[in-house]
Amino acid sequence: MGQNILVTGAAGYIGGSVLASFVTRTSGPINAASISAVVRSEDQVQALSKLGVNVIQVDLSDEMALNEAVVRNEIDIVVHIASSIDSRVVSHLITALGQRRKASGEEVFFIHSSVAALFATEGGWLYGEVKDTDQRFEKEKQIGGPHPVRETNILVTEHAKAQGVTSLNVVVPTVYGRGSGEWRKLSVNIPAYTRASIKHKIVYKFDKDGSPPAVHISDLTALYALLVEKILQKEQAPSGEKGYYFAMAHRAPWWDVMQHLADALHARGLVAEPKVQIWPSDEMAAEYLGFPLLYIRAMCTSTGQLVPVNAYRLGCQPKWDEKRFLESMDDEIRAVQELDKVKDTVFDSILPSSRN
Ligand SMILES: NC(=O)c1ccc[n+]([C@@H]2O[C@H](COP(=O)([O-])OP(=O)(O)OC[C@H]3O[C@@H](n4cnc5c(N)ncnc54)[C@H](OP(=O)(O)O)[C@@H]3O)[C@@H](O)[C@H]2O)c1
Repeated sequence: MGQNILVTGAAGYIGGSVLASFVTRTSGPINAASISAVVRSEDQVQALSKLGVNVIQVDLSDEMALNEAVVRNEIDIVVHIASSIDSRVVSHLITALGQRRKASGEEVFFIHSSVAALFATEGGWLYGEVKDTDQRFEKEKQIGGPHPVRETNILVTEHAKAQGVTSLNVVVPTVYGRGSGEWRKLSVNIPAYTRASIKHKIVYKFDKDGSPPAVHISDLTALYALLVEKILQKEQAPSGEKGYYFAMAHRAPWWDVMQHLADALHARGLVAEPKVQIWPSDEMAAEYLGFPLLYIRAMCTSTGQLVPVNAYRLGCQPKWDEKRFLESMDDEIRAVQELDKVKDTVFDSILPSSRN
């Protein structure tokens, strides 16, 4: 098998951090591989050019350009971190990988990135506790749509199988911590709460507590690297219908998180009081946080009984736990103050008016 890896979303928070963890390796199979990175703008090309990787400027919705990027660069492993919700992009990437497999005669791999909230009641999950080793694919199909993340998950498994592409799916929970990429370095949830709290000088929480799965960005990037290493070393890792990886290290108990955030913001004089108030309405929360109203409960009040097994079986060992996370809230605030330079675009395809 070849050693050519393509990372999408490489200017993003997660993709940029994954790319950084790949390029900073000084030994091992990833160090020996050739890495390409997809970004969307010329500024991002410039920012990533110093990394010594092949930076490709392409809009992933451009099927022909994407196909050419995969085939011309003889890509064997796509690590797709640009979007969990755009099924067209997934379809194009997997089709291109299928062509590459036919040309090379070698196994090709598609590592997708999905969203953990899909497996909570608020995300439409109907079956309570779920292990990533369970037969959850059939259940996902039974629930069906319309839900862009679930529909994309189903497409990944089915289209990859049809194209002879080996698929793996990293199910991403709430991610926190400073990103180590060259462009966007902030995640979604905690920075959004921090921005809104500073702007309005008050910390809000929802009327219902939630405790979703969470992971520090460094532990998440370690999982992506572990999966790619297993592939490069031709070691067996669950794939296809069995190839889900719940990337969960611990939980994020939202009301506790908000109280720690309020305490830390108040200590810095950034909010008027350390008392956390209840959001007057979901509409106001969606507006202040910049989240899609349709998904705000799933993003902010869900819990989900996810049980991660696959990643741990492969040797994943997260270094961050709930206590360390809660105690890091002041660093989350400093990260927003220091690094909040790039506009968030993660919801642009479902909030088209948010692009200006
Ligand atoms: N962060 C979290 O807590 C979290 C939790 C669960 C799931 N996820 C999922 O993980 C994925 C990555 O999240 P993230 O936080 O890293 O988001 P992000 O910072 O917005 O990164 C996404 C990157 O993909 C790029 N991209 C999107 N569509 C593209 C296209 N059509 N062509 C080329 N590039 C495109 C974006 O380009 P631009 O920079 O040009 O916009 C951006 O650089 C998302 O699907 C997200 O839903 C994230």
